[in-house]
Amino acid sequence: MSDQKLPEHNTAAEGERTLTTRQGHPVRNNQQQRTVGTRGPATLENYQFLEKISHFDRERIPERVVHARGAGAHGYFEAYGKVGDEPISKYTRAKLFQEAGKRTPVFVRFSTVIHSSHSPETMRDPRGFAVKFYTEDGNWDLVGNNLKVFFIRDAIKFPDVIHSLKPDPVTNRQDGGRIFDFMSNTPEAMHMLTLLFSPWGIPANYRQMQGSGVNTYKWVNDQGEAVLVKYHWEPVQGIRNLTQRDAEQIQAKNINHATQDLYEAIERGDYPQWELLVQIMSDDDHPELDFDPLDDTKIWPKEQFPWLPVGRMTLDRNPENYFAEVEQAAFGTGVLVDGLDFSDDKMLVGRTFSYSDTQRYRVGTNYLQLPINAPKKHVATNQRDGQMAYRVDVAPGQNPHVNYEPNSTNGLREAPRDVVEYTPWVEGHLQRAPIERTNDFQQAGEQYRAFEDWERDDLISNLVENISAATPEVQARMVELFTKCDEDYGRRVAEGLEQVRRGREEREREAVAQAEERSKEAQPY
Ligand code: HEM
Repeated sequence: MSDQKLPEHNTAAEGERTLTTRQGHPVRNNQQQRTVGTRGPATLENYQFLEKISHFDRERIPERVVHARGAGAHGYFEAYGKVGDEPISKYTRAKLFQEAGKRTPVFVRFSTVIHSSHSPETMRDPRGFAVKFYTEDGNWDLVGNNLKVFFIRDAIKFPDVIHSLKPDPVTNRQDGGRIFDFMSNTPEAMHMLTLLFSPWGIPANYRQMQGSGVNTYKWVNDQGEAVLVKYHWEPVQGIRNLTQRDAEQIQAKNINHATQDLYEAIERGDYPQWELLVQIMSDDDHPELDFDPLDDTKIWPKEQFPWLPVGRMTLDRNPENYFAEVEQAAFGTGVLVDGLDFSDDKMLVGRTFSYSDTQRYRVGTNYLQLPINAPKKHVATNQRDGQMAYRVDVAPGQNPHVNYEPNSTNGLREAPRDVVEYTPWVEGHLQRAPIERTNDFQQAGEQYRAFEDWERDDLISNLVENISAATPEVQARMVELFTKCDEDYGRRVAEGLEQVRRGREEREREAVAQAEERSKEAQPY
């Protein structure tokens, strides 16, 4: 019958482009299932159909619990070989930084945080900026955001802040009332909110935004000495942000504008670049500062802790497959190389557990065997098996029977202990306690005053619009907190909320009057 014939262009002799099943069987008819007669019923032994449909049924993996919407690209990082004017080896022995001009391949994933994987890229939200460096010493992930601070300073509060920002579990809508209920009880969020509700909360695209490690890390040198360090990415393309109105206009026509912008720029050879800069502090408590250097709701003032350039990143290759490379990419703050270390930042430690934990669930036990996540160097472990294991990490010449260490029968051995370990001294009571120097309002106020007029206007209007969904008690608490940051800030939010309240009352009065009018006009029947 004619409808069972293969289309003309599909009738070439069997060869490399022949469609097959995953078992390698050639597929001779991809148009019809096997049925009894022309009208069915279908048969259950139809392996080709069952394989196709059941694989389709499993096409999605759980999306990231946060940062679900993303775009990625490959590129390289080129070191300057120094930090500012000093030799970088004074502070870190990490090999990727040492020689000027040394290139390390990278993969970067940019993202929005709160909404799901096909949500509009114009949403007000921090942007993720996660970089995987495939170094000669194994992978280093620098998992950052565009904004330089965060809402909270202790990882135990992360599920709560995210729940407040995610859609309501009943209505499935994001709700300013819920967000500001949480935030009005979280004074440390004021700095982040001041940035997020300004135009800095909607970067124009991924190429024209900054990046920041946000949390404090350490660098360790050859002598095993450490300094505290913060990372910043500065876009060579410049920085551009959107007002709420600009964003709405884009969103009306395009919900993928940032992904599209990144992809198209790379396709036309206009490769985006960022300079990597660091701030350095000696590794101690710094009692002279009015904030705690390990508090991620604070920036380290540039005047006191200058930004020192260490290298430049270029993105020059789009992924060949979105799912394999971008969706399955797995970044984590625990992924450091020799010469880089953790600080005691209470967010960082929580993050470091959370990333690999979620990835074992989201991608699978063997997620590090996937090409996008595997280091580009030799891997030799005694880890075996688990779901979807498709290679064994044996070294050349290794006895494959020996998957334990220590051993005396040609198995794997520890690397030589030829580096000076960094061994920080830690003491104190085990307790649940807030940090001492909270100083929740000063930097938020400074940021408010540093904005240009149009940024401040947009900030006030966005806050008023969202906070007006909250109860009067929450509104009053928010005004009080903004006033503590800056009197003008609190006053303008209060005035905006008052205006909204009056407008609402006015509309309610009009609605009542109109209803009364209509009931008078109604005719008996
Ligand atoms: C993604 C946890 C704070 C940046 C994620 C994911 C989790 C998570 C579970 C999903 C990872 C995946 O499925 O692969 C946490 C926790 C935090 C925290 C527990 C606080 C304690 C932060 C902060 C930043 C940040 C402060 C910014 C510096 C990112 C980025 C991603 C991400 C960029 C997306 C990575 C990607 O593109 O795959 N986070 N996060 N997170 N987080 Fe965090």
